[in-house]
Amino acid sequence: MNKRINTKDPFSYRGDLPLKGINGQAFKHFDVDADMSRIDEEVCRALAKADLDFIPNVYGDKPPDFPDEKGRPPLEDPTIPNQEGMSTQESRKYRIFKRKIDIPWAWAIPLKPNRFKTRDQDITPWASIADQTPYTKHVIENKMPFSEVGRVMVYGSWAGSSVPCHIDEPDGPYKLHINFNPKHYRPVYVWNPITKKKIYKPKDHIFYTFNILDYHGVDAVHISAIL
Ligand SMILES: [Fe+2]
Repeated sequence: MNKRINTKDPFSYRGDLPLKGINGQAFKHFDVDADMSRIDEEVCRALAKADLDFIPNVYGDKPPDFPDEKGRPPLEDPTIPNQEGMSTQESRKYRIFKRKIDIPWAWAIPLKPNRFKTRDQDITPWASIADQTPYTKHVIENKMPFSEVGRVMVYGSWAGSSVPCHIDEPDGPYKLHINFNPKHYRPVYVWNPITKKKIYKPKDHIFYTFNILDYHGVDAVHISAIL
């Protein structure tokens, strides 16, 4: 049993493979009373006004023998030096355009910045861009089962794109996070490496969590299903 300091409820995960899960499930959902259209409007405004130059770092691995990843490049190796004459961000973008590395997310906005290691701790203030998302901030602070709010991020990818299957960190303590996709369903899944099957998030899970120590990804959705 691993109790987290940033949640009002106890959570546990099994330490054994293949799936660590949350309380014995691949996903757990939360009943949060929120107007998703309002959140969608705020997030889209924030995306329009924010600097989207930074490509989020995800340095975990892809699962071995995962059919969807055949022909796709590997995730990046942060120990490889920059391209000559390029900054770190420029080198990463160059490698994406050259199809040498794959990335899960195209951009990220830190609404409440924090380091990955301390992401469960309320040690940093909301960023000025969060002035664009007052209702979203209210929902996160008052309607979610956190005893303290650590890092808050908007992760984005273009409509119609997939998020390659990956793991965020190979090992580490479980820290509660809650995801939500305002307005539209995205086929988020965790991957069982033994049965070699995707376990999809149920469609009624609007606010949900899974264990980032499990392999996970998002299938592409045709744009006609999003509009
Ligand atoms: Fe991830």
